[in-house]
Amino acid sequence: MESKIKNICCIGAGYVGGPTMAVLADKCPHINVSVVDINQSRIDAWNNEDLTLLPIYEPGLKAIVRRCRNKNLYFSDEVEKNIAKADMIFISVNTPTKTKGIGAGQASDLKWIEKSARQIANFAQEETIVVEKSTLPVRTAETIQRILRETNKNNSLDKKKTFSVLSNPEFLAEGTAIKDLENPDRVLIGGEDIKAIEELKKIYLNWIDPSKIIISNIWSSELSKLIANAFLAQRISSINSITSLCEATGANITEVSKAIGLDSRIGTKFITPGPGFGGSCFKKDILNLIYICNYYGLKEVADYWSKVLDINQWQKQRITEIIIKNLFGTVNGKKLAILGFAFKANTNDTRESPAIEICKNLINEGANLAIYDPKVSSDQIEKELNISQSNYNEENFTDGSWESQEDLGCALKGSDAAIILTEWDMFQELNWAELTKLMRPPYWIFDTRNITKKNLEDLEGLNLWRLGIDQ
Ligand code: NAD
Ligand code: UGA
Repeated sequence: MESKIKNICCIGAGYVGGPTMAVLADKCPHINVSVVDINQSRIDAWNNEDLTLLPIYEPGLKAIVRRCRNKNLYFSDEVEKNIAKADMIFISVNTPTKTKGIGAGQASDLKWIEKSARQIANFAQEETIVVEKSTLPVRTAETIQRILRETNKNNSLDKKKTFSVLSNPEFLAEGTAIKDLENPDRVLIGGEDIKAIEELKKIYLNWIDPSKIIISNIWSSELSKLIANAFLAQRISSINSITSLCEATGANITEVSKAIGLDSRIGTKFITPGPGFGGSCFKKDILNLIYICNYYGLKEVADYWSKVLDINQWQKQRITEIIIKNLFGTVNGKKLAILGFAFKANTNDTRESPAIEICKNLINEGANLAIYDPKVSSDQIEKELNISQSNYNEENFTDGSWESQEDLGCALKGSDAAIILTEWDMFQELNWAELTKLMRPPYWIFDTRNITKKNLEDLEGLNLWRLGIDQ
């Protein structure tokens, strides 16, 4: 099938725009793909000769960028010029929770979406297919359509311009983005314009089985994305709520999770307990869902979904309290090693990471944290904690501080506890018999991801606490 689409522009070179377009360019060498962003330093990082300095760490991404960059994949800050060249434009800009005004704290802030729509209306040429890739409140396509139509109507020179708006939400998860994009469970396209849908479908057919491409009306497509995230987050809150019950009753969450997961109706995925879900989307998308439900007068539905967030918040607080209680009721002046700051393994992303809140709580209690993460920079940690870094000094400790450590041994040296917050593979293989020699007895390991090996139980002098297993 001959495709009309020769030039694609993606607005937003972030965690979605970058990897999504890299895979698209890799699978469609006949299409030129330009990813544009207003953030100059992000674009510079995407164009860096040194591929270890790409703005996003994602397994498999470097190899694709090496293959396609400056062949049919371009990263640019020339937003208008690339919009003008494109037959199809993906919008992959950020849609965070509003921080002020009506709906603050719940509704999505659509100012970046609106700005993109206006740029498209002004600079696109002739027939353009506009694809919503960002996660959006249901019926946002209506707003985009209106902006495109009305802006165009007032511009008598642009009579030839036409736009079709499609919804094509992205379901990738960070850390497995390339795998998810190359082999997705499904691709969802929502829209009314059959010809535009066919053009987008033809692109995906370059590497995806037709049975996995599903078409729906545009509102179902927008809503399905919010609901998919809400269901995933709900499963995590469900299992996390049971961790406390296991600790209280002597049941073991790993055994419970396995026993329920083997029921094929429940399934094994997304029932791994942890310190609470993080990431840029689960919380924001559920808040948005709650806002929409309240808007339509569905208070009971809104209340139901708010509980998923309440449990998530409670889990972080609960873990902080358990750590303090076990360390003789105080962490003031103590050195604690934090293992992992990213919101999950295999990403450098820290947005909404449970580590942020747990670290802040502990610093607030007077602890001195040595934070080690294999992929997160100290600048990034500082930005998230919003507290300046200060070097730990055993003789003259401050009342609540943190420092970033590039060496795990240095982080553990003289510490009273190691607190595992991210499930990086390397934390599973640690030689605790040696590492605990660096710590100050009586030392503790708090494993909020249940990744430490069982034989740790036999290690002399070690106090081990695992989520949903130990009291
Ligand atoms: P991000 O913040 O990493 O990237 C968004 C980029 O858009 C930023 O670099 C920003 O500078 C740029 N931008 C904003 N307005 C612009 C404009 N007018 N012109 C050019 N560039 C502009 O965000 P993200 O994580 O990639 O998420 C993007 C969207 O995708 C969100 O709606 C999110 O909910 C959704 N989503 C994210 C993920 C994920 O794993 N991160 C997965 C699926 C869906
Ligand atoms: C999630 C969804 O999985 C994607 O489908 C979706 O596209 C994306 O949000 C989005 O819209 O942004 P992501 O947040 O990247 O992807 O990563 P997940 O693997 O879903 O993990 C989210 C959080 O839940 C992490 O903090 C992770 O540690 C935690 N988690 C996940 C658990 O605690 N237990 C689990 O069983 C699974």
